[in-house]
Amino acid sequence: MNMITYDQTNQSFHLTNGLISYIFAVREGILEHLYFGKAIHYTGGYRYPAADRSFSPNPPNSQERLFSYDTMMLEYPVNTGDYRTQALEIDYNDGSNVSDFRYVSYQIVQKKPALSQLPSFYDEEDGETLIIHLKDTKEAVYLDLSYTIYQNRRVITRSNQLRNESDVPLYIAKMASATIDFPNREFEMIHLSGSWSREREIVREKVFAGIKAIGSSRGASSHHHNPFMALVDPNADEQKGEIYGTSLVYSGNHEFLVEKDPYQQTRLWLGINPKNFYWQLLPDASFTTPEAVLVFSESGLNQMSQTFHQLIQERLVQSPYKNLDRPILANNWEATFFDFDEEKILKIAEEAKKIGVELFVLDDGWFGHRDDDTSSLGDWIEDRRKLPHGLAALSEKIHQAGLQFGLWFEPEMVSQDSQLFAQHPDWALQVPGRDLSPGRGQYVLDFSRQDVRDYIYKAMKMVLTTVKVDYVKWDMNRNMTEVFSTALAKNQQGEVSHRYVLGLYDFLEKMTQEFPNILFESCSGGGGRFDLGMLAYMPQVWTSDNTDAISRIGIQYGTSLVYPPATMGAHVASVPNHQTGRITSLETRGNVAMSGIFGYELDLTILTEDEKIEMKAQVAFYKTHRRLIQYGNFYRLLNPFEGNEAAWMFVSENKAEALVFYSRTLNQASTPFHTLKLVGLDPNLYYEGEQIKGYGNELMHLGFYAQPHSQGDFQSSLTYLKVTK
Ligand code: DGJ
Repeated sequence: MNMITYDQTNQSFHLTNGLISYIFAVREGILEHLYFGKAIHYTGGYRYPAADRSFSPNPPNSQERLFSYDTMMLEYPVNTGDYRTQALEIDYNDGSNVSDFRYVSYQIVQKKPALSQLPSFYDEEDGETLIIHLKDTKEAVYLDLSYTIYQNRRVITRSNQLRNESDVPLYIAKMASATIDFPNREFEMIHLSGSWSREREIVREKVFAGIKAIGSSRGASSHHHNPFMALVDPNADEQKGEIYGTSLVYSGNHEFLVEKDPYQQTRLWLGINPKNFYWQLLPDASFTTPEAVLVFSESGLNQMSQTFHQLIQERLVQSPYKNLDRPILANNWEATFFDFDEEKILKIAEEAKKIGVELFVLDDGWFGHRDDDTSSLGDWIEDRRKLPHGLAALSEKIHQAGLQFGLWFEPEMVSQDSQLFAQHPDWALQVPGRDLSPGRGQYVLDFSRQDVRDYIYKAMKMVLTTVKVDYVKWDMNRNMTEVFSTALAKNQQGEVSHRYVLGLYDFLEKMTQEFPNILFESCSGGGGRFDLGMLAYMPQVWTSDNTDAISRIGIQYGTSLVYPPATMGAHVASVPNHQTGRITSLETRGNVAMSGIFGYELDLTILTEDEKIEMKAQVAFYKTHRRLIQYGNFYRLLNPFEGNEAAWMFVSENKAEALVFYSRTLNQASTPFHTLKLVGLDPNLYYEGEQIKGYGNELMHLGFYAQPHSQGDFQSSLTYLKVTK
């Protein structure tokens, strides 16, 4: 394969697969970052220009007055003398925080090593990994930087490990998963920000001098800032421009920071958020950072997204469902909320079956005495008041009706009003002597503790082995406060947030191994934990609690920047919509939901005959085009954050089929005509679909006038195209 080479003369490392190049070199024992971008030949000519800059100190024992960490491009900045944001900060036992890590050796491994306790991208004999070994000049502390490059992917993944081989503890105050230094150039940054029910809005802004950071300190990756940041050419759009898209395989607190220095160099920092993080590293222990993924696109945002999508589907998701058709589901949450009984559930399931749904999901409220959100989390025992024949019997009946059965859990939480909290009040995160802050009336269980995880595991296992369950929705409905574990020493409390995430991964690893046939969907009040860490275990996510079709267009559009359609749960709900009060047509609700993992979440027992007919047609349409939608190549065409219209499309791998979604938010009289140009088609093949016909090159360059099917506001169309000659 030989995608990684070391040039002895220049002491430089070059990772390249013909699509991208990533280059750095050793200089006076320091790793100097040279290049990340389109594949090039590197002959060693380019090095950082030497200049004596006042007030920029030289490294200890440096032979060169012209050499300063403060001004150069660095690979993993940790040494004293660089005043920008450092990758790693260590507090040593002698009270100092000065490090001086120097290059020792390198190693190239063919099989990508898995990360200790953390999910990561895997390879299938298509990756090559470079490990750089560094050592501090004073302490017996070792730093390994790992880089993986894959064949045919515009991706570098990185992770780092710190080992304490001294005989005293040290403390890690911050440790990046990756930093990238860019030489003088203009950038804009793109990130995905929002809130509950308004997740992942695309924010684009100029990179100015100084520091800008986004992140989460909520204990989860959060609705507010998704773990993603791209640096882009100012003229970049969906089809053109250079893009550096970065993300983390991590579900907890994260930070993405951009710093533009006085020499116009830009540093991108990503990793666990240093806020609330302070890790004691005992002698002989090591610490591994979550994996960073760095994508380089030379052709705009669509190429970046497709690189993420393919990598996620092919090298991250471990579930046996990763390539399987995902079932169309009906969920009772917005149909009944907590107010249901067996009879009502069976009636909804029966109607669901009639329209062609494949999986029925019983959401929150089936356990303890949970009639609202104030009780019973932690007591995973069926509520016989609502389900007099029990859960197993209900599942049996649903199966007899020809549907699979899915069940909701919120494993990481406990209600104050629960038997679990009464028995183990210390199992919630809390500071002894202080009152706990409720969120949705509940507390967070201390998943950093093995005993807590064991208990919940046993309780869930009891349900999953006595009831026939084909699908689990794993919810998480609040963020952390009082981040303190009664099981850890006081000098380890800075470890709690990360230990929690490691505990969660340990739990998920065990559960998904033990129940490989269950399809898991993750959720956190919708999209509050939509990240690569959760996707490693659960192949799909409830994208947002906002089920309004118009809001969903923006949410799904933003989400698609990183995450493929096969990860996005999307349901048709009732109108007026529960979150926005908006009334949209069943057609538009269907078109938007059919752009993801399709389902219904409304009371199917009160439908009109016309609605039933339309839903049957939607289900049949989705089944016909399911593979194209779930596993085709996805392209964004019109950005709803920039105007009144939105469009995206799916193209099959062989380009023989495509599906085009188009929507117009508000109607106008005398609307100006807009042409919509498709992408990703074969220029020389002739495509035909309802109202759209032409050769690929016509549809891509000349385009056509896009129209929704009906007059009025909030209209849309979903058009299937196939090659006819
Ligand atoms: C939040 C989820 O996002 C909803 O879909 C639903 O499952 C509720 N929690 C239940 O409490």
